[in-house]
Amino acid sequence: MLIGKGIPNEYKGDYKPDVSYEPIPIYDNIIWNYNSEALHILLIAPSGAGKSQFLRYLGGMVLRRQHMLHVIDAKNSDLGRLFRHIGVGVAVETDEIIKMLTKIVNEMNERYSKYFAADNADIDANFTSLGLKGEILIFDEVLAALGEADKKQKAEIERLLGQLALKGRAVGISLVITAQKLNATDLPKSITEQCQTRIILGAVVSDETFHQATGYYKKDIAGAYKGGVGKGYAITPKSDGLAYIETPQMPEKTSDYIMLFKELRDRGTPYGEGR
Ligand SMILES: Nc1ncnc2c1ncn2[C@@H]1O[C@H](COP(=O)(O)OP(=O)(O)OP(=O)(O)O)[C@@H](O)[C@H]1O
Ligand SMILES: [Mg+2]
Repeated sequence: MLIGKGIPNEYKGDYKPDVSYEPIPIYDNIIWNYNSEALHILLIAPSGAGKSQFLRYLGGMVLRRQHMLHVIDAKNSDLGRLFRHIGVGVAVETDEIIKMLTKIVNEMNERYSKYFAADNADIDANFTSLGLKGEILIFDEVLAALGEADKKQKAEIERLLGQLALKGRAVGISLVITAQKLNATDLPKSITEQCQTRIILGAVVSDETFHQATGYYKKDIAGAYKGGVGKGYAITPKSDGLAYIETPQMPEKTSDYIMLFKELRDRGTPYGEGR
């Protein structure tokens, strides 16, 4: 229940909370610091291993910190319905996905020309020193989206994601990409290599997927492999190799998420696009 913790009543109504860049805790000393080189996340977990639940947590924490959230829900699941219900922009169909990615790329390029193009621009600036809101894109089931797309659309999705992965960091644009498996040719290296926070969950994960996702082999793990539902391993630039993690517990009922997320929305600043 970390998401709702300590939100006082006076945050409702006209109160305009500040944007927070505080890292998002995951497990033990594993954190998601989107003000670092580790801002893009690659999350790999087979069906039922707890991807959607973890994305609800991360999405809720992003909203709590008053950043902009965008969701691509290629499988049109309850994850997208939940976020759409509370007013976050959600794309499902291929053309909507391309439109959403294009919009975020345009926003990224506008930020570059606004803050970094001038001769006297501060080259050490980044989105936190500029006080900008992050733009966080949760892209659930990227391989399902690419599988649905025709050849040209697939190339376009990969091109746009590649740009966000490569250039997003300085201007606060962060990707959280999930897939059920990851073989060497599933995603362009230009995307995966930029995701410096890697998370893998689940009991049944192939050696190939584990290696592609983490750079390690399952046999490298000290002791037995302990993946399961909501359980697995993370690697960040700060972690000392593979770290065991359990994803945070969340409310059981969807209605409880909705109450919590509406409360976050009602704190003041509007977020997301809605439709
Ligand atoms: N950290 C956790 N601790 C305990 N149970 C969990 C945890 N994370 C997820 N679960 C349970 O596991 C079930 C499956 O989780 P979830 O729907 O998030 O999986 P998924 O990977 O998104 O699956 P799918 O491929 O079907 O979309 C949920 O019912 C949830 O209650
Ligand atoms: Mg899911």
